[in-house]
Amino acid sequence: MELSLDRLTKHFGSKIAVDCISTKLTPGVYGLLGANGAGKTTLMRMLCGILEPTSGDVLYDSQSILSMGGEYRNVLGYLPQDFGYYPDYSAQEFLMYVAALKGIPRRTALKRSHKLLDTVDLSNVAAKKVKTFSGGMKQRLGIAQALLNNPKVLILDEPTAGLDPKERVRLRNLLSDFAHDRIVLLSTHIVSDIEAIADKVFLMKKGRFLLQGTIDELLSDAKGKVWELIVPEREMRKWEKSATVANLRHDKDRVVLRIISASQPAPEAIPCEATLEDLYLSYFPTEEGVN
Ligand SMILES: Nc1ncnc2c1ncn2[C@@H]1O[C@H](COP(=O)(O)OP(=O)(O)O)[C@@H](O)[C@H]1O
Ligand SMILES: [Mg+2]
Repeated sequence: MELSLDRLTKHFGSKIAVDCISTKLTPGVYGLLGANGAGKTTLMRMLCGILEPTSGDVLYDSQSILSMGGEYRNVLGYLPQDFGYYPDYSAQEFLMYVAALKGIPRRTALKRSHKLLDTVDLSNVAAKKVKTFSGGMKQRLGIAQALLNNPKVLILDEPTAGLDPKERVRLRNLLSDFAHDRIVLLSTHIVSDIEAIADKVFLMKKGRFLLQGTIDELLSDAKGKVWELIVPEREMRKWEKSATVANLRHDKDRVVLRIISASQPAPEAIPCEATLEDLYLSYFPTEEGVN
């Protein structure tokens, strides 16, 4: 099974939201990491067949998804970023409603919704109204609805929003079991989510994939670019202005800086082990200018 993106592009007027992306996805968990405005949601909506590309194509096992229509929807699960819940439905009713929309027969839907409520740990509140749920509970219900038709391709737009650390671990375990023979793509702007959940990462900026690879591959790319430098406090500002400082820690009247730099920033700088966070910061040095 394969999902192939072929020069996928989306323009909104003069704005290029997704800029000629080509890649192939086979079963596994993929993380789409990028700041707000990078183009993640636009890309995912095209992968779901909801948004028509300006140019380029999405192929599921060599067939254009737009020509597959309902056949593609049957293998697709999607959690939109701004998912609308029906506040007066109970969790169980909500899943039955979504199942009906997906054309899943009632008996199958009952069985699957019970199982999924258990999977996302909502069995004990199945009869409670969604409006009484916390952000994390709603998000888990959203994940359950995306799984109702046992999809081959699962697309989750910012699924960790509102989840607490325990729920994140649960999501990771759920997805890695599930992705054994399926394609799972999730987006986030939180580096540690990707580190914890995904096998392969796409680092997205301004509609393009700047980097793609396994976390180990990406980290080897950042190797030799992370330095620790201890400076007197009065020099701190100078370094913050002239270098990418990933982190700083005060130690008496000195400051320990973590600097991202392709070359040794100062003779006393000591090389350190790179993390995905360092790599991300090296591509998004400031929050400004990300779009
Ligand atoms: N329907 C739309 N009309 C116009 N511009 C849009 C529309 N959707 C997204 N954009 C623009 O495209 C860019 C990418 O947005 P989006 O895909 O939502 O990014 P992300 O999900 O990474 O935050 C942004 O600059 C956004 O303003
Ligand atoms: Mg988005």
